[in-house]
Amino acid sequence: MDNIDSIREDFLREVSTAGNLKDLEAIRLRYIGAKGLVSSLLKEIGKLPQEERKGFGARVNELKNFVESTIAEKKEILFAKETEMRLKSESVDITLPGRRIPSGSIHPVTKTMDEITDIFFRLGYEIEYGPEIELDKYNFELLNIPPLHPARDMQATFYISDQLVLRTHTSPVQIRTMLKQKPPVKIISPGTVYRCDSDATHTPMFHQVEGLLVDRDISFEDLRGTIEFFLKAFFGQKTRTRFRASYFPFTEPSAEVDIECQMCMGKGCNICKNSGFLEVMGCGMVNPAVLRNVNIDTEEFSGFAFGMGVERMAMLKYKIPDLRLFFENDLRFLRQF
Ligand code: PHE
Repeated sequence: MDNIDSIREDFLREVSTAGNLKDLEAIRLRYIGAKGLVSSLLKEIGKLPQEERKGFGARVNELKNFVESTIAEKKEILFAKETEMRLKSESVDITLPGRRIPSGSIHPVTKTMDEITDIFFRLGYEIEYGPEIELDKYNFELLNIPPLHPARDMQATFYISDQLVLRTHTSPVQIRTMLKQKPPVKIISPGTVYRCDSDATHTPMFHQVEGLLVDRDISFEDLRGTIEFFLKAFFGQKTRTRFRASYFPFTEPSAEVDIECQMCMGKGCNICKNSGFLEVMGCGMVNPAVLRNVNIDTEEFSGFAFGMGVERMAMLKYKIPDLRLFFENDLRFLRQF
């Protein structure tokens, strides 16, 4: 009888210190497993004298039931505890901000080129591209710049061979387009151009956007209206513009277009050399000699063309003080766009 009490006490002590399901299972086996302490007590019952069996048997069975129910209770508690711990250690914190994947930005030259072409796109111009390695014939001759013409000096040319050059402007796209397409022609052509020139304000590679419109009854006033619309759309509605007579072999008459200096807003500063204006593009009525070169009837058709430097437009619009910033690829600069 004393043995039963001490087994119960040992059992209670052990159960109270069991910290996990594995320990608890070991305890269960030690007491009520096939060879457990309580199980062996049950086997003793048969060996006792008849008069002791009943009392002893009842107490051992009571102990067995007690052990079973205590272990079941403890099992529930430990199971809940272990589940909670596992949930905690395996949980994902969905409030933690994700890691950002760094992304590049559009280069200001590309961005400006897109902005320019977009305005003309809205006016119904189609986009045309031409090769950067160009025939001398398209870069010069058919644009009314024959060999030895002094205008070739205006554009220091990279020659690849006698007949091949790195195009010095986007104007050869005018020729290519008019050779393959009958008027009306209404195109805008962004692209890279090259001149053998390198100093603080010139780079050997830069970008232009060319425009060409050929149709019936096109006058200089159409050109002026188009350019003015474009410059106001690009620089802002208040921008003042100015046309100055100029010369290009492929346009006649020709003009250069100035806008109010965006740095001083026309007051005069060192950027605009105190004139309050800055040149932004060349333009003019397509020279009938050029139209004849591409077999367009000059009695029926006339047109205008214009060409602008993209870096220059970007510098003015975004107030970038130095041309070299475009080509140094300093991320602190590029990330601003
Ligand atoms: N192609 C000229 C240049 O590069 C610009 C221009 C284009 C002028 C079209 C008139 C008409 O300087």
